[in-house]
Amino acid sequence: MQKLIRLMTLVCLTTPMLMTAQTSNVTLPQDKGPNSVNVSTYPPEQQKAYKVFTDKCSKCHTIARPINTMMTNAEWERYVKRMMHKPNSGISDSQGKTIFEFLSYDQTNRKDKNPSAFSKALSDEEIEKLKAQQH
Ligand code: HEC
Repeated sequence: MQKLIRLMTLVCLTTPMLMTAQTSNVTLPQDKGPNSVNVSTYPPEQQKAYKVFTDKCSKCHTIARPINTMMTNAEWERYVKRMMHKPNSGISDSQGKTIFEFLSYDQTNRKDKNPSAFSKALSDEEIEKLKAQQH
């Protein structure tokens, strides 16, 4: 019992510390859009990949953020790597590849068909500006 209490105290104290180390501390326009994709017409492997994507990419910010961001394939590839390399991202190489393939399929088959419904990716400078406004 003692041990359990000590463990719970430790978890309660360290979780917020870990969270602030990684969590995105800014609200982007993309965060305010829909937070799911209807993948019922996607190929089965992309439906599976969608689960990996929603699980892994919602750790530090809304899942709405990537769902509502427009990028080219090359930009998605670079971005997934960038997210993977953030401390404690919890995304392995093979999961990163699965996620990239989903984002690429979704970009071509959903976003590119209706570009005005989605936000363009912001530059680092634009994100810094929003952070300054919001704090
Ligand atoms: C370890 C934390 C973390 C994880 C995991 C993570 N992100 Fe991010 N993400 C961030 C941070 C931090 C930013 C930058 C903005 C900020 O500072 O809040 C960001 C920004 C973004 C943006 C906005 C880009 C722009 O320029 O407008 C997209 C899109 C995005 N992430 C997609 C993803 C995807 C896809 C995944 C899953 C592969 C993912 N993120 C996983 C932390 C994370």
